Amino acid sequence: MNDTTVENILEVQGVVMAFGGLMALFKPDFKVKRGTIKAIIGPNGAGKTTLFNIITGFFPPTEGTVRFKGRSIKKLKTHEIASRGISRTFQTIELFGNMTVLENVMLGCHTRVPTSFMVSGLRLPGAKRKEEEMRERAVKILKFIGLADKFEEPADNLPLGEQKMLEIGRALATEPELICLDEPAAGLNETETYVASSLIKAINAKGITVLLVEHDMKVIMNISDEIVVLNYGQKIAEGTPEAIRDNPKVIEAYLGSEA
Ligand SMILES: Nc1ncnc2c1ncn2[C@@H]1O[C@H](COP(=O)(O)OP(=O)(O)OP(=O)(O)O)[C@@H](O)[C@H]1O
Ligand SMILES: [Mg+2]
Repeated sequence: MNDTTVENILEVQGVVMAFGGLMALFKPDFKVKRGTIKAIIGPNGAGKTTLFNIITGFFPPTEGTVRFKGRSIKKLKTHEIASRGISRTFQTIELFGNMTVLENVMLGCHTRVPTSFMVSGLRLPGAKRKEEEMRERAVKILKFIGLADKFEEPADNLPLGEQKMLEIGRALATEPELICLDEPAAGLNETETYVASSLIKAINAKGITVLLVEHDMKVIMNISDEIVVLNYGQKIAEGTPEAIRDNPKVIEAYLGSEA
C-alpha cells in the first residue's frame, strides 16, 4: 500500500499504559483521518500527554499498537518516528532559552542528528552548506509563524505567546505530516489564543494533519473536525464538536473533575 493512499494517517489500537498500579491509558481506540484536525480532550490526568508520549516514541505502550501511514511505529525510537513524519510540541516550553529564535528552529531541522552534535556541528566549516539550507528553511518557517522580526532574539526574551509559536515552528522544521500539539494555548491571553488558533488552521491548510490536546474549549470547538474525549485513560466519547458539546457523559466527566 502506498503511503498517501492510507486514509487514516494514524491508528491507535488497544493501547494500554500502566505506570505501576496506575492505568494511565486503557484502550482509547481512535483513528485520525489524513488532513484533519483531531482534538484529544479530557480532565487533568486523563492520559492525553501520555498518549502523545506513546505516539512519539518516548516510551512504548504496555500493550497495543500505534500505526502511522499503515505501519506500526510501536518499536521505533523518537528520532525514527520523527523522520517518518510525526513531530510534537510539549506541554511545558522546551526551548533553548539562551539560543536565538532562528537557532531554535534550525535545531529542529534535523531529526537524525542528536542536538549536541548539531550545536557543535553548526560551527564546523564542513557543515556550512547544510547550515545554509537549514537557515533558509528556518527563515521560511519563522515568516510563516509570524516571528520574522525576532530572528536574533534569545528565545527567553519572547513573551509566552511567541514562545509557544516558536515551539510550533521548531516542530514544523522536521517537515511533519502529522503534528501533535500539547496545549498550545495554555497560559495565553485572548489575542495570543486567537493567533495560536489561526496558526494551527494555517498549518492544517498546508495539508499537515493535526492532533491537538487543549483545555481551551473555544479553541477546540472552533478548529477541530473531530474530538476524542478521555477520562481516566478511557475513551468516553468521540465525534464532531457539536455532538461532543451536548454529550452528557462528557459534561459529567468535566463536572466531576471540578468537584
Ligand atoms: N512517567 C510517568 N510515570 C508515572 N505516572 C505517570 C507518568 N506520566 C503520567 N503519569 C500519570 O498518568 C496519568 C495521566 O497523566 P497525563 O500527563 O497523561 O495526563 P493529561 O491528560 O495530560 O493531564 P493534564 O491535562 O493535566 O496535562 C496521571 O495520573 C499521571 O500522574
Ligand atoms: Mg498533559
